[in-house]
Amino acid sequence: MANSYLGFLLVWAHVLLASGSPKNLQTLTFDEGFDHLYGDDHVLILDDGKSVSISLDNRTSSGFISQDQYLHGYFSASIKLPSDYTAGVVVAFYMSNQELYNTHHDELDFEFLGNIRGQNWVVQTNVYGNGSTSRGREERYDLWFDPTEDFHKYSILWTKKEIIFYVDNVPIRVVHRIEAMGGDYPSKPMSLYATIWDGSNWATMGGKYKVNYNYAPFIAKFSDLVLHGCAVDPIEKSSICDNVTSYEAIPIGITPKDVIKMGNFRKKCMTYSYCEDRVRFATPLPECAMH
Ligand SMILES: *[C@@H]1O[C@H](CO)[C@@H](O)[C@H](O)[C@H]1NC(C)=O
Ligand SMILES: *[C@@H]1O[C@H](CO)[C@@H](O)[C@H](O)[C@H]1NC(C)=O
Ligand SMILES: *[C@@H]1O[C@H](CO)[C@@H](O)[C@H](O)[C@H]1NC(C)=O
Repeated sequence: MANSYLGFLLVWAHVLLASGSPKNLQTLTFDEGFDHLYGDDHVLILDDGKSVSISLDNRTSSGFISQDQYLHGYFSASIKLPSDYTAGVVVAFYMSNQELYNTHHDELDFEFLGNIRGQNWVVQTNVYGNGSTSRGREERYDLWFDPTEDFHKYSILWTKKEIIFYVDNVPIRVVHRIEAMGGDYPSKPMSLYATIWDGSNWATMGGKYKVNYNYAPFIAKFSDLVLHGCAVDPIEKSSICDNVTSYEAIPIGITPKDVIKMGNFRKKCMTYSYCEDRVRFATPLPECAMH
């Protein structure tokens, strides 16, 4: 209760400040925006509350969740992934409302799918709307850096019209809302999550390489936590909106320069797209025509 009231005041302060010139992006401490989700002592608050680590070992997985649910907004974190041998380890930074809508949930994902020592971590993005889990819209990429050596920024912009995934401010994927997508476009409030867990049966090379707990604990670190959106009260349905377009650091849409950067990234680094997968989708999903 105290936490959500503080959250209310903080968001309200944003609203009051929202008119006028662009502002710097505000990063939150863990306590200002988040709660433990599971794995109690495996969620560690560091650095005066500005960073948090989550870990996986043979006892438990772990994760944290935003205190509020958001309808649209900009969500970001700088993440440093566990190093060395991490086959089967999944680090997920995502939005979802599965706990509220079991059969027709929405979801937006960054999923990091472990590595075999010496090889790249594979990154996956995905979008589900209103329970469209039989139509996974996965894309996979190699990154242009080693995500275990340093923090890198992973961000999701979700508006009524489009969803953009960014890595270090480079847009890597845009999903335009087109009418033919119907309910497959996420449109209900979601929480933001960060979790680490054992995905042995599918994550690394389709499950060929499992988690080896001799290398545990696997630790993922998060900092520069940003939650800027419309915080929605799920019971009263009222919302307090932070004007994302008033922040200088929040990219709004895609500039012509971004289009080139994104094109280069996708040409060099994208290793899988559901739009190209004729085994799963004999007829590509409607938005694929725009790629
Ligand atoms: C878990 O790992 C610890 C430390 O490596 C070890 O001592 C313990 O026996 C393991 N427990 C199980 C159930 O494998
Ligand atoms: C979402 O799914 C629910 C339950 O299946 C359905 O009643 C509703 O009409 C769907 N909404 C949209 C926008 O498709
Ligand atoms: C949001 O901020 C931008 C830039 O400061 C401003 O142009 C726009 O009118 C604001 N929108 C709302 C709904 O306050």
